[in-house]
Amino acid sequence: MQRFEVDIDPNDRMLLDVLVKLKSVDESISLRRSCHKGICGHDAININGANRLACQTNMKELPSRIILRLLPSLPVIRDLIVDMTSFFQQYHSVILYLINDTLPPGRERLQSPEERDQLDGLYECIPYQSCSSACPSFWWNPGKYGGPTGLLSAYRFIVDSRGMATSARLDNLEDPYRLFRCRTILNCTDICPKNLNSAAAIGQIRSMLARRVVRPWRDAGTRRS
Ligand code: FES
Repeated sequence: MQRFEVDIDPNDRMLLDVLVKLKSVDESISLRRSCHKGICGHDAININGANRLACQTNMKELPSRIILRLLPSLPVIRDLIVDMTSFFQQYHSVILYLINDTLPPGRERLQSPEERDQLDGLYECIPYQSCSSACPSFWWNPGKYGGPTGLLSAYRFIVDSRGMATSARLDNLEDPYRLFRCRTILNCTDICPKNLNSAAAIGQIRSMLARRVVRPWRDAGTRRS
C-alpha cells in the first residue's frame, strides 16, 4: 500500500477531483475515469471499505484518512485498475437487447404508461462492477453466477412489453448457478449509487421461473378434476 498526502481546496468537491489532482503530481498513478457524472462507472473503487464511485463521493463525507483499495475479487491490472473481462463475460451472457420478430410499425413500438413504468428502477443501471464485486456469491462462483448487474439487466428486458422472448430469456437463466446462487446478502442493493434493487429483480425472475413450473402442473390437475 502506498501513502499520499494531498492538500485539497474548495474546488476539490469529489474524491475523483482529488485523485485527478494526485495524478497531476505523480503521473505514474493509474486509475480509470471518464464522465465524472456517475454515468460510465469507470471510477468504481473500494473507498474506506465500501465500493463506490469516486466521482459521486463527496469529500465532506470522508474522514481525513482515506483508504482506497481495488474492487474486491477482480484481478489487478495496475494501481486502481482491475481486469473486468470476467465481469463483462457474465454481463453479456444475458441477452441485452430487445427481441421482437414482428414487422416494426411505421414509427416506433409504443408502450402504455403502465408498461413504461415497469422499466423504472431497471433501465438506470450502469454496467459497472461495484455491486457484483461486493457480492460473495459472485466471488465464489466466478464465470458461473450472473451477478447483480447482469441479472437486473436481464429482468429489465424480460419485463419490457416490446420484447417477445420471455421464455428464451428465462431458459437462459434456469441453471443452478446463473440465477440461484443469489443468497440475498443484499450488498448489491446497499452500495448501488442509483438506489436500484438488484435483489428484488432477482426475486422477480425466480418467481417467474417458479410460476412457469407450477402452472402446467396446476393446469393438468384442473383438467383431471
Ligand atoms: Fe463516470 Fe464516475 S467517472 S461514473
